[in-house]
Amino acid sequence: MLTRCVVHARRGVSAYGTCGRRRDGSKPLQQHANKSAVGGGTARTRTLSHAHAPKNTADVSSGVFLGSGALNAGARVEVNAQTLVLGIETSCDDTAAAVVRGDGVVLGEAIASQAAIHGPWGGVVPNLARAAHEEAIDAVVAAALAEAGTTAEALSAVAVTCGPGLSMCLRVGVRKAQKMSAQYSLPIVPVHHVEAHALVARLCAGTEAVTFPFLALLVSGGHNMLITARGVGDYTILGSTLDDALGEAYDKTARLLGLPVGGGGGPALEKLALEGDPTKYKFPVPLRQRKNCDFSYAGLKTAARMAIDADIGGGDGDDVEWDGVDKRQTRADIAASFQAKAVKHLEERLKRAIVWAREDTPDLSCIVVAGGVAANATVRSTLVKIAEDANLPLVFPPPKWCTDNGVMVAWSGCERLALGLAESAVDADLERKHETMDPRDIHCNLLPRWPIGEKDGRATRDNIKSAKTARIADPLRGADGDRDISSSSVRAAGIE
Ligand code: KG4
Ligand code: ZN
Repeated sequence: MLTRCVVHARRGVSAYGTCGRRRDGSKPLQQHANKSAVGGGTARTRTLSHAHAPKNTADVSSGVFLGSGALNAGARVEVNAQTLVLGIETSCDDTAAAVVRGDGVVLGEAIASQAAIHGPWGGVVPNLARAAHEEAIDAVVAAALAEAGTTAEALSAVAVTCGPGLSMCLRVGVRKAQKMSAQYSLPIVPVHHVEAHALVARLCAGTEAVTFPFLALLVSGGHNMLITARGVGDYTILGSTLDDALGEAYDKTARLLGLPVGGGGGPALEKLALEGDPTKYKFPVPLRQRKNCDFSYAGLKTAARMAIDADIGGGDGDDVEWDGVDKRQTRADIAASFQAKAVKHLEERLKRAIVWAREDTPDLSCIVVAGGVAANATVRSTLVKIAEDANLPLVFPPPKWCTDNGVMVAWSGCERLALGLAESAVDADLERKHETMDPRDIHCNLLPRWPIGEKDGRATRDNIKSAKTARIADPLRGADGDRDISSSSVRAAGIE
């Protein structure tokens, strides 16, 4: 198992902000970020283009926070229009890759969705996800490179999601990145999945618009949090979900409504809600009594389930006639009422988070809303109003870069590379020798539970449920998906 520790040293920090160690206690080879600056001996000039340089570089250089310890970035690397970063994403159920230039131009991207594989299960099945990633990874990377009109030899670095996520899935992407790193002498940039969701807003809107510090609302299938972003790797969690993430609640409610859930039920529920009356069902707005920025979606999901049981017949959709016109209207009303209260909860928490964030960081540049649920049109239109009232610009990445994608990983790689938060190229001999070893022992650690930052003192300390299990198919999570999963389910699901 990995041990993680706080890094206090001012130099030679790991690219993660935690020092990953091998099981024998020794440190992985070549983990110092500043060595990667020359890309395994290939001298390239990389200038972080002015347009994309973090404005508060003083903050970044004086101490980046990542995970559980304060640290400094390694030697800065010039990242510019000549820099080509390949990003690889396999943390859950999408195999994605992209090539992004250091000045923020997206050259090529590819994605293989596993929607059809997991749909019948009503959630992600880790073993099937891993197998699908393994089958798709080479073709997806090749397609991204081909669309970019480039080759692996021309890359400056390979960035890969190391966590958080399902370890057996993350491993497929990391293994591919390790192999490419060794073969083409490329530095590896370990990327934090949730950070990547937030940072892609800087690519979309420009780093002049999304300067640090900014407030970010991250809403996906596995994560639901409000964070203050002070710099790359420097985040404070103002609040996160105590139970379900919003995407997870969308997925489960969609399934109960008999909607297709492959790749996430959110889009299907959103579509059905268009036909419904959002005031028809008086569902509760969650956590009104708690005056903080935490979220909870389990109660709302249960309320929707009870309405389905009472007015449609329940039975998880199995014994219900979905074709009846009245039932369709009832389902649409439930969908619309669920969505209305779910978004109201987001709205209320975001309003409070703006106040909290401004107490510590009055100079917020904007609000970023990212993650899969940020693709939802009702979420988008509702939050625009709040941002206007707070006199802050609101930045949403385009829907295709809200859900998991390779571009966010490649861009996050550019940002981290520029700060020296990369590992030098994997040694080709070592890679060959260790072909059969656990990739954590070679290079570029897997971090399935990588925290994005520390919690604000006002946030609830302990969340009830692990975000890692959020999108796992219910049968793999124990008898009741809402309860803590049993250790056998954890093993079955490949969660470490
Ligand atoms: O960010 P993402 O692709 O994967 C995770 O990191 O979890 O988010 C996937 C989640 C799924 O739960 C999916 O149902 C939800 O985002 N989602 C949506 C919409 N599009 C995706 N939820 C509501 N409305 C949408 N339009
Ligand atoms: Zn995601």
